[in-house]
Amino acid sequence: MDYIEIEGGVQLDGHVRVSGAKNAALPIMASLLLTTGETRLHNVPRVRDVVTFGQVLQALGAKICLDGSELIIDTTSIDRFEAPYDLVKTMRGSFLVLGPLLARYGRARVSLPGGCAIGPRPVNLHLKGLQALGARLELTQGYVHAYADQLHGATIAFPFPTVTGTENIMMAAVLAKGMTIIDNAACEPEVVDLAEALMRMGARVTGAGSPHMVIEGVPRLEPAAHDIIPDRIEAGTFLVAGAMTGGDVTIDNCRPAHLGVLLKHLRATGAAVEVRDDSVRVIGSERASPINLVTAPYPGFPTDMQAQMMALLTRANGRSVISETVFENRYMHAAELSRMGADIHLEGADAIVMGVPHLHGAPVMATDLRASAGLVLAGLAAQGITTVSRVYHLDRGYEQIETKLAALGAKIRRLP
Ligand code: EPZ
Repeated sequence: MDYIEIEGGVQLDGHVRVSGAKNAALPIMASLLLTTGETRLHNVPRVRDVVTFGQVLQALGAKICLDGSELIIDTTSIDRFEAPYDLVKTMRGSFLVLGPLLARYGRARVSLPGGCAIGPRPVNLHLKGLQALGARLELTQGYVHAYADQLHGATIAFPFPTVTGTENIMMAAVLAKGMTIIDNAACEPEVVDLAEALMRMGARVTGAGSPHMVIEGVPRLEPAAHDIIPDRIEAGTFLVAGAMTGGDVTIDNCRPAHLGVLLKHLRATGAAVEVRDDSVRVIGSERASPINLVTAPYPGFPTDMQAQMMALLTRANGRSVISETVFENRYMHAAELSRMGADIHLEGADAIVMGVPHLHGAPVMATDLRASAGLVLAGLAAQGITTVSRVYHLDRGYEQIETKLAALGAKIRRLP
């Protein structure tokens, strides 16, 4: 297994371009199951989760070709309707094939994704929503067997927002008979990007990006090309890297509107942030000021940026309190950061971070995608050498992160 070695203490300076958003690419790839023919997706990130999802679609009979950041998918010969356990357990986003397969083919056999490092992550809201649309579901041997001759519109009220739950229901409802209302729908930019891709195919969706989404079913959808939005979490990760090394980093191709609350918090820690049409520049301060942080569904502070901000706050000049309200167990990076000299005390959903003047490099272990990003950032700011093992977690959601960081001046390399 590869690991990453970082010599910390270097200020990051320069310009970086982020890849397409992984969490938009996955549902949009799934949505192509709703159409028959060849489609080209642009700005697709070359990350492991996209490759794995391509394998899931190939297992259904699709033809996939990843050419640079272009993904060509041909769904003409979809003739199987099963997403196998070994692929779904590798990448829980594979559960997103359930809604489109049900809507287009009336049947699907999808492994339940099971939990992951950051929590049990049930899919009960996905299943309840699909049943409301008329699906018949049986759960046996860890699989969901789903059938529906013709899905029909319904009003679905989520008790709290679920990103892929909203996306699964959207992809089922676009071919259902009649109107579907999703109340308390997730508002993430990736949900909006899926809605825009679906509308290009002929779907009728209004209210995407708001908690109240309305979908008018149509008889069929046609393949349509789509340009994936830039990855706001990757952009946020590089901005935090610039801030915590006291550097000067510009993201040249992001959507500042998607970063709103993160930029507000970065400014609160003392970083200078300049926003232009499609770029954001951060200039780090000598030492960060402490802040309190509560993660929440969009437009709140993204849970996917919590580990990265914790890394920054470990060296703030004071006490910060982080509350993780979305997932039950998303503090595994805290123990690893403590091995680098951080002073973090966990109390249920809260992490109390007492800033220390310096972190020191150490061998640390990645446990999940965003935790590993937090550890890389800590290594960039620490004194001495940090090695991050199990970087396959990192490769799930970041395309060539060490190349991009090295281009900003980081002393970082990947070793087998
Ligand atoms: C999506 O996961 C993202 N993944 C996650 O990104 C992200 O952390 C998460 O949204 C929150 O923003 C993709 O988009 C592929 P949820 P998802 O359903 O949809 C509970 C990354 O780093 N819940 O919004 O699985 C759930 O347990 C990944 O790229 C139910 O209880 O998250 C959680 O506590 C990590 N029942 C909360 O809702 C359900 O049926 C929000 O989860 C569904 C969810």
